[in-house]
Amino acid sequence: MCGIIGYYGKDGKAIDVILNGLKRMEYRGYDSAGVAFSDENILVVKNVGRIKDLESKLNGIERIFDIGIGHTRWATHGKVSEENAHPHTNMDETIAVVHNGIIENHAELRKQLKEKGYNFKTETDTEVIPHLIDFHYKKNNDGDFKKAFTDALKELIGAYAIVAIHKDENRIYCAKFGSSPLRLGVSKSKDEIIVASDRLALIGICEEEQILENGEIVVISKDYEKGYNIEDFEGFEIEDILRKVPKDIEAITKGEYEDFMLKEIREQPNTIRTAVGGRIEHLETLAIDNFPDLPREISRLILLACGTSWHAGKVAEYLFDEKTGIVCQAEIASEFRYKRPVLFPNDFVIAISQSGETADTLAALKLAKEKGCYIGGIVNSVGSSIAQTAAKGVYLHAGPEIGVASTKAFTSQVAVLTILKAFLTNDDNYIKKLKDGFSELPSKIEEVFKIEEQIKDIAERISGFERFLFLGRGINYPVALEGALKFKEITYRLAEGYPAGEMKHGPIALIDRETPSIFILSGKNEYYEKTMSNIQEVKSRDGRVIIVTDDKEALRKNGCLTKTDFIIEVPRIIEELSPIINVIPLQLLAYYSAKFLGWDVDKPRNLAKSVTVE
Ligand code: G6P
Repeated sequence: MCGIIGYYGKDGKAIDVILNGLKRMEYRGYDSAGVAFSDENILVVKNVGRIKDLESKLNGIERIFDIGIGHTRWATHGKVSEENAHPHTNMDETIAVVHNGIIENHAELRKQLKEKGYNFKTETDTEVIPHLIDFHYKKNNDGDFKKAFTDALKELIGAYAIVAIHKDENRIYCAKFGSSPLRLGVSKSKDEIIVASDRLALIGICEEEQILENGEIVVISKDYEKGYNIEDFEGFEIEDILRKVPKDIEAITKGEYEDFMLKEIREQPNTIRTAVGGRIEHLETLAIDNFPDLPREISRLILLACGTSWHAGKVAEYLFDEKTGIVCQAEIASEFRYKRPVLFPNDFVIAISQSGETADTLAALKLAKEKGCYIGGIVNSVGSSIAQTAAKGVYLHAGPEIGVASTKAFTSQVAVLTILKAFLTNDDNYIKKLKDGFSELPSKIEEVFKIEEQIKDIAERISGFERFLFLGRGINYPVALEGALKFKEITYRLAEGYPAGEMKHGPIALIDRETPSIFILSGKNEYYEKTMSNIQEVKSRDGRVIIVTDDKEALRKNGCLTKTDFIIEVPRIIEELSPIINVIPLQLLAYYSAKFLGWDVDKPRNLAKSVTVE
């Protein structure tokens, strides 16, 4: 949800560093973008569209700058337009501000400022900020910008990461409050400092970073020995604790791949290895390092998440069956937080999140914390807001996931949740079975990549259709949900995920020649044959089927195969791990279908990777 950056440096590098940082954070929002530079005046350049379009616009500017700010937007308040793009300025255009978050009392502040003579040019909540700073600045007789900045902050209600500049100040002012992330990055020589929504914008320049906490203000200036100063709203200095920034440039570039999404799909054998690591061998360390002081008697596990992460939670609902004695509920965080949930102190509540910044997941987790539940996180992004709030849990360490449609994070989440079951149930047979399953999982994923051409071919044949059904049962029902989500996110086709057994209660009405059904059928279980009957039901209504299966022979024997069907044969694995295998052809099917349709798979329209607003 919007990426912001501020650069304070040297050698006239501001334009390059800011554009590069914005490109890396473009996953956070990409409907419009803008930059502002501080010189004798403030220069603002904005654009509807991508960072590359903004870059072309900036090509015509011959001046160089050492200080600047930038923003890539995912519209919340006000339509996508150049006017509404950040940075926003005061009326004199002496102050420029970029903001990520939501100012909840913006309507009230706008009214008050209008009464004081301020004119507004945009529909955004953010525009109140530069006017408010301006108001306090003028009240102080243009004397103390820091005071004006702080006084303005004190009037804001909501969530914000803000970076501001003033034309007469050789400084950058930043503040963080609520769920909007902000990091301070410092180069070794301390003469280049970056503040940004994501670490990705720091890599390659800053060796050290600090995640800013709620209520912290940072002033960046050569006047400070360190190049910056951190304080609270009352002006009390806060000690910095800088940590090393990983130098992993490879992780944030596409390398040989055309898109991040394909790169991330192909990384899964490795990301699974990392997620499993030694964890399955040393389950006891989960009790010591990851979930210390976990209550002995856990009878309920509540998983809070949104989007793809919720689908990973749904897989866990099936893992925790009657034999485990633990009820597992995967809850959509945006619903859970408002349904006045019944929570008990011995509930074990875990937030699952790739970004660690999803506002609804964070709020739902905080609710569980307030109710005294034992809370934890399964998170990919280290040091993120959810990781900090949970303070306990498991990191996926899948590396940055940049493609907006989540892929490798999902399979790592499922892997970790499977290990969590082993940890909570301590069933030796299950642990043994999992160890064997996990040891062959990466190579079985590699096997799926061997049939990638075949999946591509199917994608080409089906991408012309407008609507699709994804059907699965049991532990593979969430895979059907995830397959449909992936497909709709990047192809913009209507795709519905459904439990196969429920098909006859509604979705079967959709079946015709133009509506392919994608079935996920694996594992020998009590509903295997029933799903085959569902396949027959579709066929007898003239529907096309695509079947992801680990047993083509069984389909043939059952008379379930006709020449026109598309079969995606995947390697067999224990049922608990089958979602990890089965989702991969669906990720590839979505990817190649979107490519055939000519869409930008990494940045699908209207979406953002990190949803930090409700
Ligand atoms: C957004 C992303 C999805 C993601 C969801 C939850 O909608 O586009 O890919 O699954 O947020 O994100 P999280 O970072 O909490 O897993």
